Amino acid sequence: MSSESTASTPYGTLPNASPLPTRRPVSLPRLQEMRDRGEKIAMLTAYDATFAAVADAAGVDCLLVGDSVGMVAQGLHSTVGVSLETMRYHTESVTRGVRRAQGSAWIIADMPYGTYHESREQALRNAAVLMQAGAHMIKLEGGGWTTDTVHFLVERGIPVCAHLGLTPQTVHALGGYRVQGRDAAAEQMLREARALADAGASMMVLEMVPVPLANTLTQAMPTCHTIGIGAGNGTAGQVLVMHDMLGINLGKNPKFVRNFMEGNSSVQNAMQAYVAAVKNGSFPNNALHAWER
Ligand code: KIV
Repeated sequence: MSSESTASTPYGTLPNASPLPTRRPVSLPRLQEMRDRGEKIAMLTAYDATFAAVADAAGVDCLLVGDSVGMVAQGLHSTVGVSLETMRYHTESVTRGVRRAQGSAWIIADMPYGTYHESREQALRNAAVLMQAGAHMIKLEGGGWTTDTVHFLVERGIPVCAHLGLTPQTVHALGGYRVQGRDAAAEQMLREARALADAGASMMVLEMVPVPLANTLTQAMPTCHTIGIGAGNGTAGQVLVMHDMLGINLGKNPKFVRNFMEGNSSVQNAMQAYVAAVKNGSFPNNALHAWER
């Protein structure tokens, strides 16, 4: 017998694929099936091969290669300075991690600031870079002016996740990390969300949006799956930044974060607890992690 087959591998051996016995590769039809039977979608951010494989093995459905990488890995003050090359590099790393572990998660890559703002042709060119790096879907922030771009990308075979509410790339224009869609702004968000869904967006992150508005948006868009972060437990799924849910954000955590390392002795256990809490509806707890208005 070759000694290679029994030798342990140094430098971060990847775990086996998800232990869930029936887990099939996550795809758009499978996400729709989950939605239709009321199963919540569990999403986490991932930026490298090892954590991506661990999250996949823990049963996380979707991995978001977020431009939050700029803040958690590069030490930037906001996501505005993240480049397309950075996103390409991390998307490729996450993809390799999932593939080597024979994983099944759906991989979403963030289009960074300035890479889709000029024209829909610019957006297509840059989205192609992330798709070729292994993404299954790209995410872009904002409504209104992005609708035409979303339609253009979807028509050309690129699945799109929209992002409304607190959109970190425009944090300076929004005046800080604060709740969006209150009062009169709710109507505009509803209009923009419907237009994005009609343009073909099949997923939509809702960040720091009051619970009643997030619930209305979710019900209004049965084929565009809302993924909440600070939007309550009525959305089709949830996302957290991995560093936040592992309790290693040394700054002040926003209200919508729960530290899943508490009571868990390993990263994989913490991620499994996150998946379980999302699926059984115990996270988020609207009284603790969301805004009623
Ligand atoms: O970049 C990111 O990680 C995100 C999440 C906060 C949704 O967009």
